[in-house]
Amino acid sequence: VNYKDILSDNDYNTPKHRLPHCIIIGMRKGGTRALLQFLNLHPNIQVSSKEVHYFDRNDHFFQGISWYRKNLPLSYGDQITIEKTPGYFHSDKSPERIFRMNSTIKLILLVRDPIERAMSDHLQLMDKRSRMNLETTSFEEKVLKDNGDVNDNYKPIQRSVYYQFMRHWLRFFQLEQIMIVDGKNLTKNPFEVAQKVEAFLGLEHKISKDSFVFDRTKGFFCIKNETTGHKCLNRTKGRKHPEVDEEVLAKLKKYFEPYNKIFFEQIGQKFDW
Ligand code: A3P
Repeated sequence: VNYKDILSDNDYNTPKHRLPHCIIIGMRKGGTRALLQFLNLHPNIQVSSKEVHYFDRNDHFFQGISWYRKNLPLSYGDQITIEKTPGYFHSDKSPERIFRMNSTIKLILLVRDPIERAMSDHLQLMDKRSRMNLETTSFEEKVLKDNGDVNDNYKPIQRSVYYQFMRHWLRFFQLEQIMIVDGKNLTKNPFEVAQKVEAFLGLEHKISKDSFVFDRTKGFFCIKNETTGHKCLNRTKGRKHPEVDEEVLAKLKKYFEPYNKIFFEQIGQKFDW
C-alpha cells in the first residue's frame, strides 16, 4: 500500500474516511476521553468517538490500512481527523506501525501521576469484574506482593512505569512531534489545554472558553450545550478514588520515583510526582 497516496487529498469537499493527522496515543486513564470531547468542539477537527485499536491489535492491524480508514469517521479536507486509543502508548508495536503509516504525524500523550493512574486503572478493572459478577480486590492487596514488595506483575503498576513505553516512541518520533499534556491540568484548565492543542495542531483558536462549565456535583468540567444544558462525561470518567493506606503509598512513591526521573529526562519536562 502506498500510504502517501492515501494521505494526499485532492477531494477536498467530499466527506471521506480520512487517515488521522493526529493520534492521542494515551495514556490509559490520562484523561483521553475528556480531551477528545473537548477537541471535538473545534469545527476543523473530526474525532473518532470509538477507540479503533488498529495499531495495538494484530487482528485489526493485519486487516490492513483500508480497514483502519473504514473505521475512522467521515471528514472534510479542511478537517483534522483525530483518533484516540490509549492502549497504543503501552503497546510496543504501535510506534513503528504508526511511523510507517505517517512519519510526520502529530501525537498527543496525556500524562498523570503514576500512582493515581494506577489507582484509576485498578478501579476500571474492578468495575469490569463486578459487572461480570466476579469478586473484586482492594488496591492495597493488588499492588503489593505477599512479601510486601510492590507487585510489578500487576498491569496497573506495569503501565505506570512510563519510561519503558516512552523508549519505543522515541526510537521513531521526534519529541517535538509528541505533545505531552498534563492530565491534571486538563481537569483544572480544560480551556487552556484546548488552546495549546489548537496551536500544536496549527489550527486557529476556535474553541470558546464559554463552552466549559464546571459541574459541582461531578467535580469536573463539562461541555455547555445551548439546548440540553450541559453534558458531562459518563460516570466511569471521574470515579471517586478511595484513600490509599499510607504505608502502601510510601512504597509506591519509592518504587516509581526512579522511573519517573528517567521519564522526565526523556520528555525534557518535570511534573510534581
Ligand atoms: P478518574 O476516573 O480516575 O478520575 P481516560 O478517558 O483516559 O480513561 O481518563 C479518565 C480520567 O479523565 C478520569 O480518571 C478523570 O480524572 C480524567 N478527566 C479529566 N477531565 C475530565 C472531565 N472533564 N470529566 C471527567 N473526567 C475527566
